[in-house]
Amino acid sequence: MASLTIRKLDETVKAYLRLRSAGNGRSVEEEVRVILGELIQGRPELSGAPISPSSAEAPAEAAPTINASGERNVTLIIGGGIAAFKSLELIRRLKERHIDVRCVLTRAAQQFVTPLSASALSHERVYTDLFDPGSEFDAGHIRLARECDLIIVAPATADLMAKMAHGHADDLASAILLAANRPILLAPAMNPLMWNNAATRRNVMQLRRDGIHMIGPNAGEMAESNEAGVGRMSEAIEIAAAVADILRPPQPRPLAGKRVLITAGPTHEAIDPVRYIANRSSGKQGFAIAAAAQAAGADVTLVSGPVDLRDPAGVTVIRVESARDMLHRVEAALPADIAIFAAAVADWRVANEGEQKMKKTSAGMPPLQLVENPDILATISKLKEKRPPLVIGFAAETEHLIDNAKAKIARKGCDWIVANDVSPATGVMGGDRNTVHLLTHDGEEINVDSWPVMTKEQVAAELVAKIAKTVEKSS
Ligand SMILES: Cc1cc2nc3c(=O)[nH]c(=O)nc-3n(C[C@H](O)[C@H](O)[C@H](O)COP(=O)(O)O)c2cc1C
Repeated sequence: MASLTIRKLDETVKAYLRLRSAGNGRSVEEEVRVILGELIQGRPELSGAPISPSSAEAPAEAAPTINASGERNVTLIIGGGIAAFKSLELIRRLKERHIDVRCVLTRAAQQFVTPLSASALSHERVYTDLFDPGSEFDAGHIRLARECDLIIVAPATADLMAKMAHGHADDLASAILLAANRPILLAPAMNPLMWNNAATRRNVMQLRRDGIHMIGPNAGEMAESNEAGVGRMSEAIEIAAAVADILRPPQPRPLAGKRVLITAGPTHEAIDPVRYIANRSSGKQGFAIAAAAQAAGADVTLVSGPVDLRDPAGVTVIRVESARDMLHRVEAALPADIAIFAAAVADWRVANEGEQKMKKTSAGMPPLQLVENPDILATISKLKEKRPPLVIGFAAETEHLIDNAKAKIARKGCDWIVANDVSPATGVMGGDRNTVHLLTHDGEEINVDSWPVMTKEQVAAELVAKIAKTVEKSS
């Protein structure tokens, strides 16, 4: 039987063998034995084995790390902060999302959590030492930096961020971060004074410029007694959601380069400094449309009446009170390619708004004289200049829905109407679901497309898809 001297093999084959054996936790000799065994058994996958000079010589171009079951793979670096215990919870949250986790603990991190806990939760070996002969015989820190989809640092201590900003590589964590060719997400955690220190501010700015993702820190109580401020690490569930966002494959962006203007929510029409006329609109539908348009690549401005909703990420949100404020801000936001008026604008306001709080008097109730508010949809639809090429209105009706919506599309001069029944029994006002009918012009005719009951997010996605198709056709 011939003997094989690994040393004498071609360099490309040697490099491949080293990578493969390290990945499988075997010696190179054992790996060769396994490969020969597989060959003899005629295993088909061997024919696709990556023995190519480019993959062997350029580990920076390592193959994607999705494993056989399609799972993603992250390297989690745990820094030496009091929030390290939350990173154990983070491992669980990531695994719930079918993300494989390999943990690296810094020396300081091991003062707060043990490698054993991280290993038990991740079901993987934990790495702590740059000069570990067991993993460094084939430059294991390079593998930890590159054989993953994302590197997370949680908690990202002030010290770790300083090292990153200055390119240090004197321990396993910093060497991985310097050798990385994958996205990096930091979850900073530290005392508010450390966070606000000029040195940390400079480092954070540098890291942001270097394209590093960051989540948090949040404001709240510190571990130190009687201290509060910005510095708490984001919760594990928030970090896991940010990870999922980064790992999500890029979505098509059919509205890239388009400006979309959206209104949402009710308006408040003052009676006096403490009272107002309002309606039950929650703003959820308009906010969902703004988020969907932003996800489709549009540059979105959302003018919203008073609502209790968070700003959708990446959207310019302008908060207003009254119909007149709303019209003013809408006009100022033009030009736009698409305008969607989903706000429930009050039709009337009080003619003589009290400068002081109205008092009960023996003279009886004060008469409330109403005057008509500006009609935002009609005003923008009838603009001579700056009319957006596609203007979409909403018709919220409690009776004769389609007939009223057809009349509205003609009266207002808009292009489409999204009609919905807002009778109390439907639960649309303030609820999470909506049943809508999309009215569009088809020559002289008006086309009515009735959609099934959907969540407001689904309605938003459908509407944005329809808009994208129309924009594509007309360009
Ligand atoms: C009890 C205790 C809690 C600490 N908490 C934090 C913290 O939350 N954030 C931080 O940046 N440093 C914290 N430090 C200081 C770090 O442990 C120290 O800067 C260490 O060198 C950071 O190591 P690393 O670079 O491996 O993360 C703490 C230290 C102690 C003793």
